[in-house]
Amino acid sequence: MVKFTIITLFREAVEPYLQSSMMEKAVRKGLVEFDFVNLRDFGLGPHKSVDDTPYGGGDGMLLRCEPVFNAIEQVKAADPSAKVILPTPVGEIWNQKSAQVFADKHVDNPHFIILCPHYEGYDERILSIVDYKISLGKYVLTGGELPALIIIDSVVRLIPGVLGGEQSAEIESFSEGDNLEYPQYTRPEDFRGMKVPDVLLSGNHGEIARWRKEHSGTVDNDVA
Ligand code: ADE
Repeated sequence: MVKFTIITLFREAVEPYLQSSMMEKAVRKGLVEFDFVNLRDFGLGPHKSVDDTPYGGGDGMLLRCEPVFNAIEQVKAADPSAKVILPTPVGEIWNQKSAQVFADKHVDNPHFIILCPHYEGYDERILSIVDYKISLGKYVLTGGELPALIIIDSVVRLIPGVLGGEQSAEIESFSEGDNLEYPQYTRPEDFRGMKVPDVLLSGNHGEIARWRKEHSGTVDNDVA
């Protein structure tokens, strides 16, 4: 069982995804558990403030240390083994291998706390309580909720028992670095003149395997 505790101000943005499709199935099968902590509950003062302006000036607001530390410490008091993940554009770039490394930890019943920052950033001292800084790519999002979902989804689908066929995750894109999965087709054989390659209809498994190998690609282009 892998547990994720998501610390966020926007539970409503995260929870519906985790209650749908494969994530919901994984929960039902007892392979994963999701829990939420409302950062606002740890806010300061009458307004339950969680952010403030940066020392030295500059635009925007930063997540303050106190609410974040108090929230994380409360989770860790119940489970000292929990590890903290911070989605941040300055983290290590996440890829399929990272997802596999995290999924492989499932045998140890790991507990990950994902802290979703918001606003323009966070007080640097928050990093002292973080185990993994993870970037989803070289672009900037408004908060950590989407990265949290992407990290969770890419890990959970690799936990044995989550996907139907155990090998469907093995033969897929990026499983060995930059490999891309071969093209696939289902019925009908002929859709508006676009035909399924004959070899896939041949029943010759050797030929099919060769065709698939030939047609597996590598990543070589950028969108922009
Ligand atoms: N928060 C904002 N942008 C991000 C990114 N690219 N990756 C992870 N967390 C982020």
